[in-house]
Amino acid sequence: MPRLLRIDASYEANGSVSRGLTGVFAEAWRSRGDGHTVIQRDLRTDPVPHLTHAALHWASEETPPADESHREAAQAQRALVAELLSADVLLLGAPMYNYSLPSTLKAWLDQVHVRGLTSPAEEDTQPLRGRTAVIVTTRGTVHGLGTANEDRDHVVPPLELILGEEFGMEVHVVMVGRTLSTSIAALAPERSAFEAERDAAAARLTALAGSLA
Ligand SMILES: Cc1cc2nc3c(=O)[nH]c(=O)nc-3n(C[C@H](O)[C@H](O)[C@H](O)COP(=O)(O)O)c2cc1C
Repeated sequence: MPRLLRIDASYEANGSVSRGLTGVFAEAWRSRGDGHTVIQRDLRTDPVPHLTHAALHWASEETPPADESHREAAQAQRALVAELLSADVLLLGAPMYNYSLPSTLKAWLDQVHVRGLTSPAEEDTQPLRGRTAVIVTTRGTVHGLGTANEDRDHVVPPLELILGEEFGMEVHVVMVGRTLSTSIAALAPERSAFEAERDAAAARLTALAGSLA
């Protein structure tokens, strides 16, 4: 059964643009029928723990748990890794906060990037190689080429490095800026540009969800 793992990280309870867009993708995925299922994790209401032992960055065969708290943390980590490995497609809602990833999403990434298990260590271990990851990233302002914020995006580059290079996934990035134009008066002139970007993103996500093998 083709399975989508949808992870949202917006701190917004209502009206999150990224959550709206990951919802569009998930609905388009589900509407394909034929057993297309969605596992949903919202890190706002259901955050994962931060790593408590540096050894958890390596597969446990190399660094067996040293004590009970390490063992429990390793067990929790294994469940998160298993959830990721069970998915054919990964969908992340990744807003920009302080030029960077939501801390909750960073905690999830720290949990699932395990050398020798999800990324290569001695061996070329990449169980996710060839699978698809879709990153939906939102930001209040504009961060494209030629803007003052051109080099200030610390959301997409680490996700592309870990998911794309370390895990070997095929990464698609869908970005929407100017989201604060709906709530900050000084940015109101940007509102129609934001709406056009958001609608184009929704159309792209619908098409992508319908076309992934
Ligand atoms: C704590 C915090 C930090 C933010 N930092 C930035 C930032 O560095 N750059 C930016 O363009 N927007 C920033 N924003 C605006 C969010 O990126 C924007 O509201 C985005 O739409 C959030 O995603 P969401 O709509 O899915 O909740 C910040 C918002 C919050 C709450």
